[in-house]
Amino acid sequence: MQITPLTGGLGAEILGADIRRAEDFDAIHAAFAEYGVVVIRAQDVTPDDHLAFARRFGPINVNRFFRPVDGYPEIATVLKEKDQKQAIGEGWHTDHSYDQIPAMGSILHAIEVPPYGGDTLFVSMAAAYAALSQPMRQFLDTLTAVHSSRHAFGAATIDSEAAKSGRFANAEAATQDARHPIVITHPLSRHRGLFVNPVFTTHVEGLTPSESTALLTMLWDHCRQPEFQCRVRWQAGDITMWDNRATWHKAINDYHGFRRLMHRVTVEGVPLQ
Ligand code: SIN
Repeated sequence: MQITPLTGGLGAEILGADIRRAEDFDAIHAAFAEYGVVVIRAQDVTPDDHLAFARRFGPINVNRFFRPVDGYPEIATVLKEKDQKQAIGEGWHTDHSYDQIPAMGSILHAIEVPPYGGDTLFVSMAAAYAALSQPMRQFLDTLTAVHSSRHAFGAATIDSEAAKSGRFANAEAATQDARHPIVITHPLSRHRGLFVNPVFTTHVEGLTPSESTALLTMLWDHCRQPEFQCRVRWQAGDITMWDNRATWHKAINDYHGFRRLMHRVTVEGVPLQ
């Protein structure tokens, strides 16, 4: 097995691994803990293999809103058909941060990819936090933010293309509001990192609405810097696993006229502090 960092701060590519082999798991797990994002190339595996690999990390956390894969309620479909305009996960986000115990990580298997584009971008939240000034880090360390599923998956979204095409459903289940510290200590690495994201974080507690908006806007601009990012170019069969407590991600929607189909399994996490 060959493990090569993707950038100076985040992500690694793994060649020569097989997610079905028990003896490969420890090295994949160690790379995941070290790099936050691992791209395991060329996995010719079934949905059952995908689930079995995810269960080595922990229990499955079932997504409430994405259409499940037929016969596999624990696997979410991430799909854009060639005649659709909206991609799933286009905005910078952290999966399921609206849950009080947010998912530990997601494991995305590329089933069908466009001939170009459709890459996924990731940001290291530890690198973003470390690059802030000491007074700003100290200020953020005292704050809590609210994250919600309501505006992203609730009644206001039922006219969206994703909902009308059946890719999103269960708007009535979008009732989650969670409070998390803006800065968390990562449960595996113990590194301090930001835990707020543009899609699900609604506001900072204790600040006025304009203070909250100004602070979050500053953080969004700061975190998007390319120095904190890595980019995954997909080939069918690749599996990318990311740590939701350490990263943001964003699906790039630049392949109109082509189909892209991914299967996503998400693993349960732990309370964050
Ligand atoms: C997601 O946001 O989970 C999907 C990312 C992708 O499709 O690249």
